[in-house]
Amino acid sequence: MADRLVLLGVGSKEDFDAGVLRTGILKAVRHLKVKDLQRLGVYCPGVGELSDEVQAIVEGAVMGTFSTGLYKSENSEPVKIGELVLVSDSDVSGLKNRVRNRAEEGLILGESINLARTLTYEPGNRLNPLGFASRASDIAAECGLDLQVFDRKKLDKLGMKALLGVAQGSTQPPCLVVLKHLPGPDEEKPIVLVGKGVTFDSGGLSLKPSASMEEMKGDKAGACAVLAAMQAITKLQAPRNVVGLIPLVENMPGGTAQRPGDVVETFSGKTVEVINTDAEGRLILADTLAYAVESFSPEWILDIATLTGACVVALGHLRAGFFVNDTKLAEAFDRAAGRSGEKLWRLPLDHAYRKDLESKIADVKNVGGRWGGAITAAKFLQEFVADTPWCHIDMAGVESFPANGVLEGPTGFGVRTLFELAFDR
Ligand code: BES
Ligand code: ZN
Ligand code: ZN
Repeated sequence: MADRLVLLGVGSKEDFDAGVLRTGILKAVRHLKVKDLQRLGVYCPGVGELSDEVQAIVEGAVMGTFSTGLYKSENSEPVKIGELVLVSDSDVSGLKNRVRNRAEEGLILGESINLARTLTYEPGNRLNPLGFASRASDIAAECGLDLQVFDRKKLDKLGMKALLGVAQGSTQPPCLVVLKHLPGPDEEKPIVLVGKGVTFDSGGLSLKPSASMEEMKGDKAGACAVLAAMQAITKLQAPRNVVGLIPLVENMPGGTAQRPGDVVETFSGKTVEVINTDAEGRLILADTLAYAVESFSPEWILDIATLTGACVVALGHLRAGFFVNDTKLAEAFDRAAGRSGEKLWRLPLDHAYRKDLESKIADVKNVGGRWGGAITAAKFLQEFVADTPWCHIDMAGVESFPANGVLEGPTGFGVRTLFELAFDR
């Protein structure tokens, strides 16, 4: 017998899909004032044919247990669910395994998404680059991922001067986390996932205005999405070789900070004139992308980053922007995003935009002009992937739920699409 009955309105029939259901369940769980739910039942008619819905219900329920009160000394206990029961009115005996697998997938993905949300929400003083690497190391040990951490000395030896330049104004040392899930044969080219990990972005000497600067603790959301996706990819045993690369820095305006006008030599050998120290994400990604190309000869590379305010101007808080230089990868990406339900919109990479990045003193400068800032940022990244099929997601607008909405805090955006991509064939 149930003590409480929650009636969940999920809007119009035409708009109903797995995403609506996931968010609906998430909100329902959040609104339950019981902290320790012994049992939660969800009545889902017709579940036999609706295994997408089974996954969505479990994912939503798990996501509903996330709390933003990480450091509250009282009443901060998040909701915990003891048992989740799915109640169906149709005969599911023949489909039990399939349904159960989707439930398991929902559980693991939901937990990974919550991991991304928690890490993204951590303040800059609580999670610096080495702290992130140590959390990544715990996760890797727990789920069986291979992990290496390149420290400052190693990065210097490799010649990652663009990454090091960003980090040099901070007292916190930078690092690069390398995660490997290699179940396939050695000769199989891996896919590489790269996530921007700026644990705090003050802008450096091109200092950001104080209003909303605190939000820049979320400038590591891409890194969190890659770590969390790698966790789910390993736990659910994706059949292909996947490498995750996470460059981590803090961007600060200290006395040793890099100056506007400085010229750095990147891992690829190309030189960059640093016009604006607040365009730091593309600098750390430049070295990481070039390293991915050289070290892994990947089948393709995907990077995900809270890269530009311009992308937020273009697409608002509903959709992330994405760029892709290869038709086959574009198709795989569409399939993955379709399955994940995450909202993205393709933006262009015309060669003509490249001229905005011409520098007098170096091969390229790190910012374009006033217009098309999300695109010129992508054009900058493209300089460092050579001919490798590559996709770039700019998630600056979707890292957090919009202010004043029912939902608040970090979204965990990207985990689902990256996960789906690793299972695409
Ligand atoms: N981390 C920011 C981008 C950002 C803006 C993320 C808003 C989330 C919300 C990035 O490092 C940055 O500062 N970009 C500059 C680039 C500019 C200097 C060319 C920007 O968008 O203003
Ligand atoms: Zn910045
Ligand atoms: Zn940034």
